[in-house]
Amino acid sequence: MKLMLVLGARPQIIKSAPLVREISKESEIELQIVHTGQHYDYEMSKVFFDELELPSPLINLGVGSGSHAWQTGNILIVLERVLLKWKPDVVVVPGDTNSTLAGALAAVKLHFPVAHLEAGARSYDMRMPEEVNRRLTDHCSQLLFASTENCVNNLYKEGLSKDHVFLSGDTMYDALLQHLPRALKNDALDKHALEKETYGVLTLHRPENVDDRRKLENIIRAMMKIEDLTIFFPVHPRTKKMLKVGGLWKALMRTKHFKLADPVRYHSMLCLVRNAKIVFTDSGGLQKEAFWLHTPCVTIRKTTEWVETVQMGANTLAKNEKMIIKKAREFLATRDLKETLRKLPNPFGDGQASAKIVGSLKRFVAS
Ligand code: UD1
Repeated sequence: MKLMLVLGARPQIIKSAPLVREISKESEIELQIVHTGQHYDYEMSKVFFDELELPSPLINLGVGSGSHAWQTGNILIVLERVLLKWKPDVVVVPGDTNSTLAGALAAVKLHFPVAHLEAGARSYDMRMPEEVNRRLTDHCSQLLFASTENCVNNLYKEGLSKDHVFLSGDTMYDALLQHLPRALKNDALDKHALEKETYGVLTLHRPENVDDRRKLENIIRAMMKIEDLTIFFPVHPRTKKMLKVGGLWKALMRTKHFKLADPVRYHSMLCLVRNAKIVFTDSGGLQKEAFWLHTPCVTIRKTTEWVETVQMGANTLAKNEKMIIKKAREFLATRDLKETLRKLPNPFGDGQASAKIVGSLKRFVAS
């Protein structure tokens, strides 16, 4: 049985790691990892392969950055050749990036079955490139592996057949459980001179937040006003570029309660989120990780695909300066919040999503 896994961006490496580990237990499965090259900086890609102990990709398509059409189109063109050469039984695509969509589209056009990890997540905001990628990928996949019941229901609402939908749980949760013991021994707090529960973690990279200068300024202003917390801010390359263009970078460097850093590794991030008082983010994955680590999360967006975390009170949406400050203050004023969050049920499965997915893939190919 030949499985091809197509990935290219940082979160996809994390989502794939437990699946690769599970596949490696199966001698009859030959795994071909294809890296699209969407992320190419050492600290956005290779470092995660090393840390999560993933085998090197068989091939890197070296596509790199560009507009959506350019990036997606180039992956399609190169991947078509790879697919024709390797002829996999199933092509697995995780998440919702341009690499996900291009992988799915290249495969389905050549009649290779597609399996989508994180199927059915919906923000219902088609202005998000990831929402477009998710929807289109789901509708050309034959195996839809959903993280939660809510994701399953979203797929049914769109008329997708029950025969193709599987409630697997979330492979990011598998990854977290596998890596947490090591993450907690990490020296990230010492390295960044942070003290437990006295800081917030901030990440920003969504185009709607960082590519619009006024929006970015508005968010940064809110964070500058939350002075009673140290704000630890590992900066995504896209965001760094925009902060420098807008002249905000220098202002941040001068702001006492800010600690700027390069993107951090997976274990460091888990350790930093676990020990933070609060998380501020526009990332999808970090919302879930904050939830699993019982740290309240202010999501700097109008919508989220992980509505379960908001419904349970662990996560809240804030789209501008005023809301960010208000929501942060509410969380910070709630007594024993972490204890309350610890008691919440987890809708993302039992940490065995990867094993279930491999079982379904084997049955699918054998049938
Ligand atoms: C992509 C995904 C997003 C995911 C995120 C994780 C899409 C549409 N978006 O967003 O869903 O949450 O990855 O990080 O696929 N850059 C570098 N070095 C790198 C990678 C990117 O400098 O290694 C810079 C480039 O200037 C590039 C910009 O970041 O133009 C954006 O990169 P891109 O991969 O297009 O999107 P992300 O914002 O990273």
